[in-house]
Amino acid sequence: MQHRELGRSGLQVPTVVLGAWAIGGWQWGGSDDAQAERALQAAIDCGMDAIDTAPVYGFGHSEQVVGRAIAGRRDRVQIFTKVGFNWTDTRGEFAFETIGNAGQPLRVYRNSRPWAVVREVEDSLKRLKTDRIDLIQVHRRDATTRIADTMQALANLHRAGKVRAIGVSNFDAAMLQEAKQALGDIPLASEQPKYSLVAREAERAILPWCIRNQVGTLVYSPLEQGLLTGKVTPERSFPANDARHKRPTFTPENRRRVLEVLERTVQPIADRHSATLGQVAIAWTIAQPGVTCAIVGARNPEQVLENVRGGELALSAAELAGIRSAFEALKLEGLARPGLLSRIFSRLTSIRRR
Ligand SMILES: NC(=O)c1ccc[n+]([C@@H]2O[C@H](COP(=O)([O-])OP(=O)(O)OC[C@H]3O[C@@H](n4cnc5c(N)ncnc54)[C@H](OP(=O)(O)O)[C@@H]3O)[C@@H](O)[C@H]2O)c1
Repeated sequence: MQHRELGRSGLQVPTVVLGAWAIGGWQWGGSDDAQAERALQAAIDCGMDAIDTAPVYGFGHSEQVVGRAIAGRRDRVQIFTKVGFNWTDTRGEFAFETIGNAGQPLRVYRNSRPWAVVREVEDSLKRLKTDRIDLIQVHRRDATTRIADTMQALANLHRAGKVRAIGVSNFDAAMLQEAKQALGDIPLASEQPKYSLVAREAERAILPWCIRNQVGTLVYSPLEQGLLTGKVTPERSFPANDARHKRPTFTPENRRRVLEVLERTVQPIADRHSATLGQVAIAWTIAQPGVTCAIVGARNPEQVLENVRGGELALSAAELAGIRSAFEALKLEGLARPGLLSRIFSRLTSIRRR
C-alpha cells in the first residue's frame, strides 16, 4: 500500500486508513467484536497499517477492540485516536444526548481542558494496551477552552513520548491557524475533515489552508457511510440505533439519485479498471489536492480487502474530472450543493484578487 508523509510530522501513513467508529457499535446498530478483530487483523496483514479510533466510539469499546486486535503486533501498526468528548462529567460545552452501551441515556460534553485531555490520553493508553499513541487529535473544538491551552497540554504529552504527533479534527481555517501557532516548534501534523464525492465543503478553505501550511489531512466518511459503494439501495433499511436511518443523505430519493450517477458515470470507469464503485470513490478521494489519506470504515475482512485496493487504483485525469463534474451536477434533497458553493467561493476570491 502506498504511504505518504502526514504533513511535516515524520509519520508515513497509508493512503487508506482503517476507521474504527463502526466497530465500536455506537450509532452503527451495534457490532460483532470477533468479526471486527478479524477486520483489524486483515488490515494490518495487507499493509493498511494505521487505525483511526476515538474514546467516544462506543464509549471506550472501539479502543478496547483495537487494543485486543493489535496485541503482539503493536510495532506493525500506527494508532490514531482523539480527545475532547466526555460523557462522565458535565464540565465543558454540551454537545449532544445519546444512548450508552447499556441502553442508558448519556449527555456528552466537548471538553478539551488541559487536565481532561491528559486524563483521556491515559485512559486511551490503558484501553489500547500500549505505551504510546502515534497521532492524537482534538475531535472537535470545545468553545469553553482556549485552543492554545489544549495544545500546550498535548505538547507536554508529546515531549513525554506518550504521543508521537498532534492533529485536530473538524477545525475551520482560523482554528487551524491558532492550533499551529500554539504548538510552536512541534508541527501540527494533521486536520481530519469530512470529505467525499458528495461532501466537498472542505475544498473551500480547509484543504487550501492545509496545502499552504504543509499540514496533512485524513479525510473521513469517503464512502459517505457506504452510500458510494452502490450497495445502499432504496429498499435497504437501517435499525433505529444506526444513525443512517435518519441521515439526510440516506433518504430513498437521495439514494436513487446517487445510484443513478454511480451507474451512469462511475460504473464504466470501474469496469475499465476491473474495480468496484467503492474502490473508485476511494481512489478519487485520495487523488484530490490536499488529501493525504482517506479514513475508510469497515466492519469485516471482506470490506477491508475491497477498500485496500481503492488505495492502489490510479484514475486518469480525464476520469477524475468526469467523476467530479457528474457529482457537481448532482443535487441531493435537503443538502446544500457543495459544487455550487465551491464555484461561488472561487468566483468571489478571483474577483477579490483582481
Ligand atoms: N473526526 C470525526 O468527527 C469523524 C466523523 C466520522 C468518521 N470519522 C472517522 O472516519 C472513519 C470512516 O468514516 P465512516 O465510518 O463515517 O464512513 P465511511 O468510511 O464512508 O463508511 C464506512 C461504512 O461503509 C460500509 N462499507 C465500508 N466498506 C464497504 C465495502 N467495501 N462495501 C460495502 N460497504 C462498505 C460499512 O457499513 P455497513 O457495512 O454497515 O454498510 C462501513 O461501516 C470512521 O470510522 C472514523 O474513524 C471521524
